[in-house]
Parts: sequence; C-alpha cells; structure tokens
Amino acid sequence: MDQPVELSTPTPPAEGLVWLNGEFLDFARALISVDDRGFLFGDGVYEVVRVYDGHPFALDAHMARLRQSLNAIELEVSLTNEELAAIACELIDRSRLKEAELYLQITRGVARRLHLFPVGVPPTMVMTIRPVRVVPNEFREKGIVARTFPDERWERCDVKSINLLPNVLAKERAHRAGADEAILVRDGLITEGTSSNLFLFRDDELATPRIDHRILTGVTRGLVLRIARQKGYRIVERDIRVEELQAATEVFVSSTVMELLPVIEIDDVRIGSGQPGPVFRDLYATYREAVRAKS
Ligand code: PDD
Repeated sequence: MDQPVELSTPTPPAEGLVWLNGEFLDFARALISVDDRGFLFGDGVYEVVRVYDGHPFALDAHMARLRQSLNAIELEVSLTNEELAAIACELIDRSRLKEAELYLQITRGVARRLHLFPVGVPPTMVMTIRPVRVVPNEFREKGIVARTFPDERWERCDVKSINLLPNVLAKERAHRAGADEAILVRDGLITEGTSSNLFLFRDDELATPRIDHRILTGVTRGLVLRIARQKGYRIVERDIRVEELQAATEVFVSSTVMELLPVIEIDDVRIGSGQPGPVFRDLYATYREAVRAKS
C-alpha cells in the first residue's frame, strides 16, 4: 500500500491541501479509518475559517470557540490553540491559496465501535483548505429567500458539533422549496439559520437571538454586533418570535462563508421593500473594511 507522502513540491494544489494528524497531504492520500468515531458517532467538533488574501480571518476567535466545543464534549487535545493556529497558517502557506476556506475537525479518534469513550486513543485531527465557495453577487445585490422550519436539533447548539443532520435536512428542504436558507424555529422563537446567525431590524432596533444553548456564538455575529455598536445602532440580544420576522424592515444572516446576506423574502412574504436595505448595506460595507484592514 502507498504510504502517505508529505507534499514538498511548491506547485500550488488546485483543489487545496490537507493536514491530517501531523502530515501535509493531498486530498487523495488523506484517508481516515472506517472506525473513526467522527464517522461512526459524529463524535467530534469543527470550525470553518475564512482566508482572505492568504490570511486567516478571526483565527483567534475560531480557536477559542473550538476549545469551548472540545471542552463541552470532554475531548482532550494536547496541541495548544497557538500550535493549532500555527499549523493552520502553515497549511495556508503551503496551499498558496489566497481566497480560501479552512476547515478544521477533531474527533475522538479511531476505536472499535463502542459508545463509551475509548481509553488512550489519540484524537483524529484534520484541517483542509480549499478555494472559497463563491457567494454569487446576485445574492448580495438582490437578496436571498428563506423559509422557516422547526428546529429539530439537540439542546446544545452552542457546541459546534459535526452532528449536522437536522441542519442538512432543513437546508435541503428549503432548497427544494426554492429557498436559499432555512430559518430554524424552536418553541415559537427563531434560533438561527442552518449555517448562519440571524439579524432583524425594525423601529430603530437591531435585534438578534441572545446567546445561549439554542444557538451558535457566531464569530461573524460577534463582529457584526461590534461594528453596529461602534456605529451607534441600538442593539438588542433577545428572544425573537417567529411572527416578528415578516414584520421586520430588514432581515439578514451572517456567517464566515456568507459574510452578511440580506433576506428579502421569508415563507413567501416580502421583507420590507423586498430589496437589500440600508442597515444591511451599511454594516456589510464596514464588515468588508474590517476584512481589508486585517488581510
Ligand atoms: N457554519 N450557526 C450555525 C448553525 C452555523 O453552522 C454557523 C457557521 C453559524 C455562523 O457562525 P460563524 O459566523 O462563526 O461562521 C451560525 C459554518 C460556516 C459551516 O458549517 O459551514
């Protein structure tokens, strides 16, 4: 059998590059056991980091959240955040990709399929880098369409777990219904999108669901709030009833890959003017400035 070889060639790999348990590999050689607990149980956590002009954006915040997720699932990793960050930077450099997405996943390792934690088994650590998925300009200029779906996820959505089945199902159902994102609703309150946080603007108030176990503490969400605060917006982090969505003047979503995207229609009802609004434009312009300043 071929042994995985380290890529020492300076040729940029068109499709990206992988770091797997200490080795830099191309995708074809980065192989994981069928006994990996990520594969068998979804027993792992992950992060997605945007790379702009060859620099990882908000890497510290992603590493801090990764550590929180690891602690929440009681998964010990000997590498420090600084060491993981250094590997991420080396992967970016070796890939030579400038506009990219870095994916980082840590699982509870490879062991015979038993529910109990395996003893003395090292975690499986993977980072991949690929050219970023391009968000069509049209999405930003014309806005996206969303549909609401019941939030069928577990009670710890603050943990960035690789168990994404409810998210996947809601996204697929939204797509089949002609929508771009699913907005999840739990007990009559909106939580977040399948892979994004949600903001709503009405009556001079920028509202977003408050941080607790029902949502992910989005890195982009945090930055949007910081920007909005600096710009003097009135911000409220609170429960948001699903009926409030359609009455909003503006709705937008935020995530590492989507950045900010305006939502112009929800469940066949037009939001505000049916066009990306001034609050979205203002905050997105400043978000882009922050990105440029850091890259
Ligand atoms: N998703 N909420 C959920 C459920 C998410 O999966 C994500 C990100 C976010 C936004 O978080 P951030 O701003 O830190 O990217 C909110 C990533 C991008 C993904 O699964 O691809």
